[in-house]
Parts: sequence; structure tokens; C-alpha cells
Amino acid sequence: MNTLPVPTPQPNPSIQSNDVSVQVRGLNYFFGKGDLRKQALYDINLDLHRGQIVIMTGPSGSGKTTLLTLIGALRSVEQGSLQVLGRELHGLGQRQRVEVRRNIGFIFQAHNLFASLTAAQNVEMAVELTGGLRQKRQRAVEMLTRVGLADRVDYKPANLSGGQKQRVAIARALVNHPQLILADEPTAALDRKSGRDVVTIMQQLAKEENCTILMVTHDNRILDVADRIINLVDGHLESDESPQQFADAHAIKALDGSMFVM
Ligand SMILES: Nc1ncnc2c1ncn2[C@@H]1O[C@H](COP(=O)(O)OP(=O)(O)O)[C@@H](O)[C@H]1O
Ligand SMILES: [Mg+2]
Repeated sequence: MNTLPVPTPQPNPSIQSNDVSVQVRGLNYFFGKGDLRKQALYDINLDLHRGQIVIMTGPSGSGKTTLLTLIGALRSVEQGSLQVLGRELHGLGQRQRVEVRRNIGFIFQAHNLFASLTAAQNVEMAVELTGGLRQKRQRAVEMLTRVGLADRVDYKPANLSGGQKQRVAIARALVNHPQLILADEPTAALDRKSGRDVVTIMQQLAKEENCTILMVTHDNRILDVADRIINLVDGHLESDESPQQFADAHAIKALDGSMFVM
């Protein structure tokens, strides 16, 4: 009789555990062609877990935005593996990358709001819903309320402060409840108090929704919100540490609370 052993099902290594939302393996990235070809990222390996806030820091030109835009499926992966929310991005075409992006919330330094639209309309534009306009408005107003702008929903950007505009941008990024939020220097244009408010809101929402936040920042004042801090230098991932380890290693004045008190 045929007694071939029945293979025991093995976990498929290409399907990641539910706990990991981003898995990077051996990722290289180059800009330019021919003689002008220049490597921007070298053999990046990284796991981002659900519910974690990870801060990415490092000198200007070290590759932070490049890595963020690769993870955000805004550019295509050329070498290595990059799995985002269970999907391998290497080899995906333009259309498939657009699909991946629908599960990601983006927050940039410049808030990129439409000047002619109110706060609520700016958020409504992002609502992915086939329902009616009233439902979209309701979702937008709910999210603006959660970021503390209930009394500003019908204001246009020109009549909002920098911190308020950035909060509208956060509401817009979060209105579809993305599992992954990518933020590139979201507090860079803000004063101390507004910057702190913005990251506190992001932190609360991340914990409530169990999503992952990867945030690029140079802002030492907000490092304490991070579960981990990764440091990129010349395209290499140099370290992956807790905020306290990072502060000790980089001679940042103690994370003793006082530097974060607003
Ligand atoms: N579109 C581009 N074309 C060519 N080189 C680029 C481009 N974007 C970034 N670079 C280069 O890649 C490196 C990393 O840039 P970037 O990811 O923007 O760094 P960071 O966000 O850390 O300041 C830099 O040397 C930069 O000059
Ligand atoms: Mg950058």
C-alpha cells in the first residue's frame, strides 16, 4: 500500500503572525541609474508590532523618508522583502500598491489640507464609504471631535492654528481606522505645546485602535511616547532601543519627565 507520510501542515513563513504589521528583511534601495546610482538603504531588517509606537530618528539624509515611503507602498521595493499588513510588497504593481495604501494612514510635516475646504470637508474627502454624504459628514465630525476640534469642524485651514491644522490631518489619516499609521516629522512645524498635544492624540488613538505607528521625528521632546526608537545612519539601521536606552546612549538629558512637561 501507499504509505507516503501525510505532511503535517507547517506554518507558511510568508504569512506573518497577526502581531506583526510590518516585516522588513534584507531591504536595499537605490536612487538613480548608471553612474548616478546611489544606495540609500542597506540591508534593513525590522519588525513592527501591532499597538506599538516606533519612532525613527537619524540625521538628515539618512534614509528615513525613503524607508517610510517604501513601507507606505508609495515607491516600489527593488531588493529584499517588505511585508505590510500581511502583504508582500516586492513585485506589486501600481494598482496593488494603491490597495495596500488604503489600509495606511499618512501624516506629513506639511498638513496638506485643501485651503478652500472646511476641516470637516477635508476629513470627509478621505472617508471610504459608499454611504451618503450625511454619513461621511458624521464620520468626519466624530473623528474631529476625538482630536478635540468639535468646535472647529466648519473652519477653513486659514482660520486654524498650526496645531489645529495638524490635528485635522490626523483626523483625516485616522478616519478609516487604518491598521498602520506612517508619520513623517508630524510635529516639526509646531510649537512645543501643540507638538505634544498632537503626539498625545496619536498615542491615545494607537492604543485604542491597536494600530501601529511609525513616526519619523527629530523632536527629542516627544521620544517618551515611543515603545521603541530606531536610529538610521547613512542608510543603515544602527540601533533599535527603548526610549531610556536611547536617551542613555545618545546623551539626551534624562527622560525624567521634566523635559516633557509642557
Ligand atoms: N528622489 C530622489 N532622488 C535621488 N536621491 C534621493 C531622492 N530622495 C532622496 N534621495 C537621497 O537619498 C538619501 C536619503 O534621503 P531621505 O530618505 O530623504 O533622508 P531623510 O528623510 O533621512 O532626511 C539622501 O542621500 C538623499 O539625497
Ligand atoms: Mg525625511
